Amino acid sequence: MTADPTTSRSALRMALRGDLLDFTAAPAWGAVESTAVRFRPDHWLLIDGGRIAGVQSQAPDDSWTRHDHRGRLILPGFVDTHVHSPQLEVIASYGTELLDWLDTYTFPAERRYADAAEAQQGAARFLDALLAHGTTSAVVFPTVHKVSADTLFAAAQQRGMRLIAGKVLMDRHAPDGLRDDVAQAERDCIELIERWHGQARLAYAVTVRFAPTSTPAQLAMAGALCAAHPGVYMQTHLAENRDEVQWVRELFPDARSYLDVYERAGLLNARSVFAHGIWLDEADRHALREAGAQIAHSPSSNLFLGSGLFDWPATEAAGVAVSVATDVGGGTSLSMLRTLGDAYKVQALNGQRLTAWKALHASTAGAAAALGLGDEIGSLNAGCAADICVWDWAAGPVAERRMDVAHGLHERVFAWMTLGDERNLVASWVAGVKRYERRQG
Ligand code: GUN
Ligand code: ZN
Repeated sequence: MTADPTTSRSALRMALRGDLLDFTAAPAWGAVESTAVRFRPDHWLLIDGGRIAGVQSQAPDDSWTRHDHRGRLILPGFVDTHVHSPQLEVIASYGTELLDWLDTYTFPAERRYADAAEAQQGAARFLDALLAHGTTSAVVFPTVHKVSADTLFAAAQQRGMRLIAGKVLMDRHAPDGLRDDVAQAERDCIELIERWHGQARLAYAVTVRFAPTSTPAQLAMAGALCAAHPGVYMQTHLAENRDEVQWVRELFPDARSYLDVYERAGLLNARSVFAHGIWLDEADRHALREAGAQIAHSPSSNLFLGSGLFDWPATEAAGVAVSVATDVGGGTSLSMLRTLGDAYKVQALNGQRLTAWKALHASTAGAAAALGLGDEIGSLNAGCAADICVWDWAAGPVAERRMDVAHGLHERVFAWMTLGDERNLVASWVAGVKRYERRQG
């Protein structure tokens, strides 16, 4: 029997009603009035076959399955450009800065991912948690173990998610059970690239943990992998903490700077995602801009680990793309809203002001563009994947009152961003499939 074409078509066609918010361009620094903001209150977002089909003000006909979220915000799902899947277990660990924190908490937790069952359960828990926080795409560090990357990619594929990840490279200055070697790591990476890169919505990232945990030979191998596979990404940490920067200076005395270590190894390109970038100079920013690389700013982590205050305006003025990341478990929440609230506070400590527009753009369309994925994620444009989140404007009486008295769109959205978190999230769709829904009551 053939399927009824009307029924099967309507199963794929759905429409979400609510206040639609996205961006048509990059908002300027400090501008609370911005033509880059596209706010369409009480509109219908049409989704067909997992992709956005259009937006209209009137209700669509009965061939569309309608979900009425009148009075709620609808945004593209957030893009978290730097987060560690095995570190949910070390979130909120007391008392240390970066290097001690890695030794005391993080490395012991990551060792458990040598076990396939542990890695599989951890990957599922992590991705479901992302979706329950309104994040539908992410650039992720699993662990040094190949199975941690395999299980993460498989879990993302099951959920239809856009995910960029790769086995962590680490052949020195790490404990037993967390080190690889150059030859085995290269074989593992090639196998993982062949198995996962370009499959479904997945992409591989050559994943150097950070310069201190890779020998020069391993950094060179990683650079050669990037050259041999031009479509892959590269992710690592850069200039996060002052003791770390000093250590890199000692380990690589010939390099001009921390970034120069990566550049010499062939790891600086348009698909490079560098987490942090707090302790950079103008020459570094110039090199990042020339390469078209991006900084994944991780404010919650930078505050929690006492790493420093990222200079967003200087980075932007140098022409470097800045996206926003939770960096869990250095960061204390998977919520991009909480992270953006922290980003505002970091800039305030620097005497600057981050608008809601800049913050939300950097965690949606801006991040997508920096990853070369602007046609697929981060906006409500027709043709993009329907990675969509529905949010309550306010959760609880304090936020409700604040919304009641807010004037103008920026004030409302800024209050939402600052007071909101995962409790505001109503539902998340990935490629038009509902993957998270808040429990009633
Ligand atoms: N630098 C090297 N590894 C890590 C990590 O796991 N988290 C953070 N925040 N910085 C790092
Ligand atoms: Zn990190």
